[in-house]
Amino acid sequence: SGVITLDPGYKNSGACKSEITFLDGELGILRYRGYSIEELAEKSHFLEVSYLIIFGELPSAERLVQFENDIRKFTLVSEEMKIILDGFPRTAHPMGVLSALTSALTAFNPKSVNAENEKEMYDAVCKTMAKFLVIATWTYRKSMGYPLNYYDNTIGYVENFMDLMFKLPTGPYAANPVVIDALDKLFILHADHEQNCSTSTVRMVGSSHAGLFASISAGVSALWGPLHGGANQAVLEMLEEIHKSGGDADKYMAKAKDKNDPFRLMGFGHRVYKNFDPRARIIKKAADEVLNTLGVDDPILAIAKKLEEAALVDEYFVSRKLYPNVDFYSGIIYRALGIPTDMFTVMFAIGRLPGWIAQWKEMRENKEPIGRPRQIYTGHPLREYPKIVS
Ligand code: CMC
Repeated sequence: SGVITLDPGYKNSGACKSEITFLDGELGILRYRGYSIEELAEKSHFLEVSYLIIFGELPSAERLVQFENDIRKFTLVSEEMKIILDGFPRTAHPMGVLSALTSALTAFNPKSVNAENEKEMYDAVCKTMAKFLVIATWTYRKSMGYPLNYYDNTIGYVENFMDLMFKLPTGPYAANPVVIDALDKLFILHADHEQNCSTSTVRMVGSSHAGLFASISAGVSALWGPLHGGANQAVLEMLEEIHKSGGDADKYMAKAKDKNDPFRLMGFGHRVYKNFDPRARIIKKAADEVLNTLGVDDPILAIAKKLEEAALVDEYFVSRKLYPNVDFYSGIIYRALGIPTDMFTVMFAIGRLPGWIAQWKEMRENKEPIGRPRQIYTGHPLREYPKIVS
């Protein structure tokens, strides 16, 4: 009851209290559980950061080994899941397939759905971390028409990503350590970002007491859109288009500024960061390092830098505080690692998974009420139902 405040896009509404991620958009600060993103990206590893985000504290060395081993217990995926996967056309977008398969996990793991006690919650965390990685890579194998791979419990989590994607019948993939380091860093940088669109979707769906997999599946769908995680694919497609049309970055800058043209400079702007996105800074440096170390000379990197330089001094972008975001340079790294463009948003999803799990867990533990915004009705007043005269 009372006055309803209208806030489209929830630009000024806090939907919950959270202890997970601190973000200051004016100062460009991002911290997980109090630790700075710069320090974590430099010194930590993805599974350690996942544990930190989900359980609140950094694990001891033994606890981390235990966590990794517990994930390994759940790395098999039901054979029936393959039948579901098989029903999709090869041309299906991997994000759509991933969302469907994540939801399907519900049927095969009924105990993890609501995670009623601490043990069930812990198992549900490990199960989700294990199975989501496997099915995420299966969406790629399926799109290629290749046989599916299984998680190799003798190697690490991030190594497994490359192995699951690219393993040949002749043996393990044995990725270059530079590649593994870069991926590890990228996953850390994507691991949580407070109440972004997909995370608030996970919380909203979970608030009705829908299960963990159903909530995460909804998060995957939300992430897919080009204004959110889908931007990383859109950035690369944009850079490729600029490259193919002769590298005329100015033309695309003009399109982005034209209010009669729906085109936006993908990978630019952010709802919260109005100074710079600290993740973009780290990723830009990593892109340079990876391309140098792997000896990749990608003309698209040069175009990205040209666009960024132009935008940083352009009145339109400066006055609106539009800076490169996390998605601007990540695709250039993925491309150098041989990841196909339509898998980029799946990479984001793998990185964001611990954040989604942690936020779902926190929402349940805080016994938050069902999410149910109000509206301001702008339709017809009461109308009389007309008799249909034949
Ligand atoms: N290119 C051109 N103009 C832009 C852009 C852009 N990328 N982003 C914002 N603007 C303009 C917008 O037209 C508006 O102008 P005006 O005030 O004249 O109407 C002004 O800047 C404010 O934009 P907004 O749409 O009101 O801001 P928002 O907070 O609702 O949207 C955003 C944020 C990220 C959706 C938007 O900046 C955007 O569409 N960026 C491109 C897509 C993208 O890179 N998304 C990834 C976001 S970061 C990671 C993630 O979430 O996955």
